[in-house]
Amino acid sequence: MYEILSWARVKHPAHLVVAAGAALLLALAPGAEAEDSLGEAQAAAGRAWYDKYCTQCHGPGGAPGSAVYPDTNEKVDLRRYVARHGGRFPAGEWIAVVEQTEARAPHAEVWREILEAQPQTMARRPVARGVVVLIAEYIKSVQTK
Ligand code: HEC
Repeated sequence: MYEILSWARVKHPAHLVVAAGAALLLALAPGAEAEDSLGEAQAAAGRAWYDKYCTQCHGPGGAPGSAVYPDTNEKVDLRRYVARHGGRFPAGEWIAVVEQTEARAPHAEVWREILEAQPQTMARRPVARGVVVLIAEYIKSVQTK
């Protein structure tokens, strides 16, 4: 919102009033709340997928399960995923590490399982990715500091 306002100020000062009006409407509308509950709904949906596909190795709630980092043998704790990645959630890296296709990669089998559970349409991949993204929303919601 702030960006839209400053953009309006710089490029089209005359539009500032309109932009400010829109900002006010957005602030008053239940939009922000809807966004929060959307995030919660996504995390809840992601939890169901996490329980189905990920707990066997990562443990319930993102808590350490049997999965370990091959270099250190340290248990993977997905509740510390953000902390391990410098305080941000690296979406592209998350997708790449889960959607593995090399035969011996730890996620090759689970990614195939997720893919094969989707109807065989051209949207199969994006729908399967949706599952991976929802799981990310869930994992975001269980981060410990
Ligand atoms: C068959 C066991 C197994 C299953 C099932 C599994 N994982 Fe993993 N996962 C591992 C292992 C082993 C590692 C550590 C090795 C590595 O990072 O490549 C790992 C690492 C990860 C990492 C990287 C963590 C980091 O700190 O960068 C993410 C993210 C991840 N798993 C997500 C998932 C998600 C999401 C699911 C469910 C869709 C899942 N895993 C299912 C075994 C598994």
